[in-house]
Amino acid sequence: MKIAIPAETQAGEPRVAATPETVKKLIALGATVAVERGAGVRSGIPDADYEAVGATLAAGAAEAVADAAVVLKVRRPTPSELAAYPRGAVVVAMMDPFGQEEALRALAEAGVIGFGMELMPRITRAQTMDVLSSQANLAGYRAVIDAAAEYGRALPMMMTAAGTVPAARVFVMGAGVAGLQAIATARRLGAVVTATDVRPAAKEQVESLGAKFIAVEDEEFRQAETAGGYAKEMSKEYQAKQAALIAEHIKKQDIVITTALIPGRPAPRLVSTEMIASMRPGSVIVDLAVERGGNVEGVRPDAVTELNGVKIVGYANAPGRIAATASSLYARNLYAFVETLIDKSAKALAINWDDEIVKATALTRDGAIVHPSFQPKPAA
Ligand code: NAI
Repeated sequence: MKIAIPAETQAGEPRVAATPETVKKLIALGATVAVERGAGVRSGIPDADYEAVGATLAAGAAEAVADAAVVLKVRRPTPSELAAYPRGAVVVAMMDPFGQEEALRALAEAGVIGFGMELMPRITRAQTMDVLSSQANLAGYRAVIDAAAEYGRALPMMMTAAGTVPAARVFVMGAGVAGLQAIATARRLGAVVTATDVRPAAKEQVESLGAKFIAVEDEEFRQAETAGGYAKEMSKEYQAKQAALIAEHIKKQDIVITTALIPGRPAPRLVSTEMIASMRPGSVIVDLAVERGGNVEGVRPDAVTELNGVKIVGYANAPGRIAATASSLYARNLYAFVETLIDKSAKALAINWDDEIVKATALTRDGAIVHPSFQPKPAA
């Protein structure tokens, strides 16, 4: 059973799907592992470190994936990458499946068994496989570091001989995994932190981190959580009330970090140009939702722009900005999942198609898209 780790091909993706730690464990499961040369370099892992734990190095992606039973990736393989994959191979990656019908069709047509890690159900058994959490947590941390770097003032209050420096006011919008880590990080740096979310469960979590919760707490808010723990899209009326509250609050903030997402939908627009204009020059906004359209009006992917002296930071791949840590956690998430697909005594793949984590994440199999949420729409 060969497991392949090709290098990522997308520009701006420095992460890698396996580390020496996980390669060692995959080999202990009875697999042979081939790593494409250079795959780990941008995560600080030299080829020699993979070799030292027993991987073979492949000169290119085609050599790495030849005869592989399993291919581990960070991003969904492109059609040209797929061309080299053996039919029937298991491909595990963040497949970014929402609204990507054509890409899913290419995956199916390549004959691979494609698993999308971001579809992992949030059940206790699958916590170790939860890539959304492992990566969002780091993104939240990194957003505060990026904001602090762009901000021309200090975050903590400082009492010096030359007088007192006030603490920065940080406002975190969206208090899921990324937002909660942003709150914790900003608090550690000494900022005065407030946060908002549309899910009522977030209130207690925000407060337990020592931040103040700001939200329109009406009847709709009390119902605004799906069984899976995610946000729902809010009504126009709620959004208007929320916007009015935020507009008043945001004027007084030095740093705003937005993390709001709704699964399978574009990111909700939370910060308007008028709100940005109401902030003091020198303030900083970091939009972690930029890859999904952004929470901030006018945000540009992978750019730091300025409006009335307010900096708007839109790095698209925030976890990739802390690549070594992001890769180490992502690789462990993948290992935890792949381990469940392998029969250890037979040292071979043995996928239990009735397992709820397999059912939830399997996208393609035998040339077809098998996931119920991504069935091609029938022709009219
Ligand atoms: P996410 O990445 O989908 O969204 C980020 C945050 O944005 C969420 O808290 C969401 O409520 C918020 N949001 C959406 N629309 C908004 C709006 N209009 N205004 C303000 N905020 C808005 O969410 P994430 O980080 O994946 O977390 C979702 C939930 O899942 C959380 O309750 C988290 O604690 C829970 N969770 C549970 C796990 C488990 O193992 N059981 C593991 C990880 C997370």
